[in-house]
Amino acid sequence: MQLALQLTSVLICILLRLPNHLAISHNIEPWLDTLEPTPTPTPWPEQFHALLYMNLTSTHLQLSDLWYDWPKGRNVNIFQKQLGVVLYDIEWNNGTSFYYTLGANATCEVIDFGVGIPRPDFLDGAHYLGRVVTDGFLCDLWEKVEFIWYYEDVATKRPVRWDFYDGISTHVMTYEIGAVLPDSVVQAPEYCFTGTVNGNAFST
Ligand SMILES: *[C@@H]1O[C@H](CO)[C@@H](O)[C@H](O)[C@H]1NC(C)=O
Ligand SMILES: *[C@@H]1O[C@H](CO)[C@@H](O)[C@H](O)[C@H]1NC(C)=O
Ligand SMILES: *[C@@H]1O[C@H](CO)[C@@H](O)[C@H](O)[C@H]1NC(C)=O
Repeated sequence: MQLALQLTSVLICILLRLPNHLAISHNIEPWLDTLEPTPTPTPWPEQFHALLYMNLTSTHLQLSDLWYDWPKGRNVNIFQKQLGVVLYDIEWNNGTSFYYTLGANATCEVIDFGVGIPRPDFLDGAHYLGRVVTDGFLCDLWEKVEFIWYYEDVATKRPVRWDFYDGISTHVMTYEIGAVLPDSVVQAPEYCFTGTVNGNAFST
């Protein structure tokens, strides 16, 4: 993922979309808190599958099959780039991620991020911004460390959308709690370890 710094434009964009009253902090109107407790984000289920529609900063689009699996310590994204390749992104809780494609022009990149996958409660401590309609759903909206803006359906508590600071926007199309990806799918191919496909070397 490209981590282009477009924080300012994203912030302005989000501020413009929010109704004005949301700009008023809850600390200034403490009586609001006594009427209704501030909503908190629902933790992620320990295992789920979601089909995601993503709009990248380049405005290129992709689908992703997200298979989050906390007990197995992995977070899998299988990206279908629009009219392009299928890119596997297998993230392990020990910090290692494998990015690879299959087929004739296969590639693989192994990256050690030094941090694990998101915990189910990774949104704890997020700052509540209020209620907004997005993608046609009435949502509670939180922001955490100016990194993620997270929209959760008020009625069902399912995630509807999240935006990253760099402008990547993700929309949740399906959400299956408890679905688990077979282990065989997440085994990185041999060339991730040898660095060659069909006798052609590539850098890992
Ligand atoms: C993708 O995001 C950009 C920037 O927000 C927007 O202009 C564009 O309309 C979006 N494309 C789609 C297909 O949603
Ligand atoms: C992390 O776990 C994966 C999957 O078990 C493994 O392939 C990888 O080598 C591990 N990385 C480290 C640094 O141990
Ligand atoms: C692989 O790359 C070659 C050379 O760029 C190209 O001609 C061929 O169409 C590619 N094959 C696939 C399956 O993408």
